Amino acid sequence: MESGTWRLILSLIPLLLSLLFIVYSNYSSSKPTTSGCSLLPHDHYWIASKRIVTRHEILSGAVEINGGSIISLVKEKDWQGKIKNEPVIDYGEAVVMPGLIDVHAHLDDPGRTEWEGFPSGTKAAAAGGITTLIDMPLNSFPSTVSEETLKLKKEAAKGRIFVNVGFWGGLVPENAFNASMLEGLLNAGALGLKSFMCPSGINDFPMTDATHIKEGLSVLAKYKRPLLVHAEKQQEMELKDGVDDPRSYSTYLKTRPASWEETAIRELLTVAKDTRIGGPAEGAHVHIVHLSDSQSSLELIKEAKNNGDSVTVETCPHYLAFSAEEIPDGDTRFKCSPPIRDASNKEKLWEALMDGDIDLLSSDHSPSVPELKLFEEGDFLRAWGGISSLQFVLPITWSYGIKYGVTLEKLVSWWSEKPAKLAGQDLKGEIAIGKHADIVVWEPEKEFDLDENHAVHVKHPSISAV
Ligand SMILES: *[C@@H]1O[C@H](CO)[C@@H](O)[C@H](O)[C@H]1NC(C)=O
Ligand SMILES: [Zn+2]
Repeated sequence: MESGTWRLILSLIPLLLSLLFIVYSNYSSSKPTTSGCSLLPHDHYWIASKRIVTRHEILSGAVEINGGSIISLVKEKDWQGKIKNEPVIDYGEAVVMPGLIDVHAHLDDPGRTEWEGFPSGTKAAAAGGITTLIDMPLNSFPSTVSEETLKLKKEAAKGRIFVNVGFWGGLVPENAFNASMLEGLLNAGALGLKSFMCPSGINDFPMTDATHIKEGLSVLAKYKRPLLVHAEKQQEMELKDGVDDPRSYSTYLKTRPASWEETAIRELLTVAKDTRIGGPAEGAHVHIVHLSDSQSSLELIKEAKNNGDSVTVETCPHYLAFSAEEIPDGDTRFKCSPPIRDASNKEKLWEALMDGDIDLLSSDHSPSVPELKLFEEGDFLRAWGGISSLQFVLPITWSYGIKYGVTLEKLVSWWSEKPAKLAGQDLKGEIAIGKHADIVVWEPEKEFDLDENHAVHVKHPSISAV
């Protein structure tokens, strides 16, 4: 799995995004304001194509954009007289789609900018068709768990981002029982909260249990915001010296079995009940991040949804593209948690995604410095866990999804519509009148080799698992 050997279908036309809404500056209300910084030298113009993906159809026609918003859509046969003297950018057969919204990325800024940082991370996002990215509250330093620490994030982002950026806050034991601290964080613009049910790997982001989560949900209910949960619960586990080789991927897989996810999700869902209509946390929402186990965990989530709990779940491209059988010994680029499981698990993830049992996708881009990946030792047990793939989530989803019948409409649902809803961005995620003109243009039939000629914008391309 050398990076160069992956042949990805698609070439992104590096146009995109008529206008970037710099959201971080004004999230105290959930309505971001505009601060125009268009990549195109026009204010009022049209984008034309044979394949514009709207909610209802794939339109051959044009999108009219003015002041960063979509103001009309016309079919090709009707555009006589509608398009006057405004400039028209005609993309021919290329697909015009809402920009991707990545609700789960770690840009590690401030405090660990040697791992990534806002400039490189958001440049990679833009190059990959992501027009909005919601940054996680950990792996930066300090973690975003208070109004003050959120302020540090906003300051770090100011003038250093290339796409829209919003922030999740952290739910940790320190603030879980202090409603005024959580409200301070939400009032200051955090779009929701994130917590871990197992050690996060970051000392200043301790784990929470169901009691903390219950408290968090009661505050989030008032704000109608989500709690994003890393659902794995640690269990006793013994490795045998001399038998379980730390360089072997199967050893790592053994240390984080699917039962970790299942146990955590079972516990989480006992409190997620509070989100039902009439329940004590009605209005709050539980979102399970990066599901890897497509068996029992998924059954539990389906059941909770059927019972009326406000619950959604995401998975990530690396769980859909790779399988444990293929991961070479010592190749710690593929270490993440929960781990990438076997091929049959992957098949079931695709099935669940196609059937709508998995709601959406995110990158969980989680880089570090290359040294922490311990490439020389290849020690899966000690290496940093986190996959770096931000710039390539669209081509990965598309290329690997063809076999399973992926469509452009599905891509929009998984990567734009549902993520917009989760993050409370009701003006984003769709090509429709009144929505922000956050747009990606790309060519699904074109292939490229991800080799040294391909510009990769993340800070450490060498750790990328694509
Ligand atoms: C709760 O947090 C506030 C800061 O928002 C702090 O002033 C207060 O002392 C905290 N209360 C408790 C009981 O820890
Ligand atoms: Zn993450």
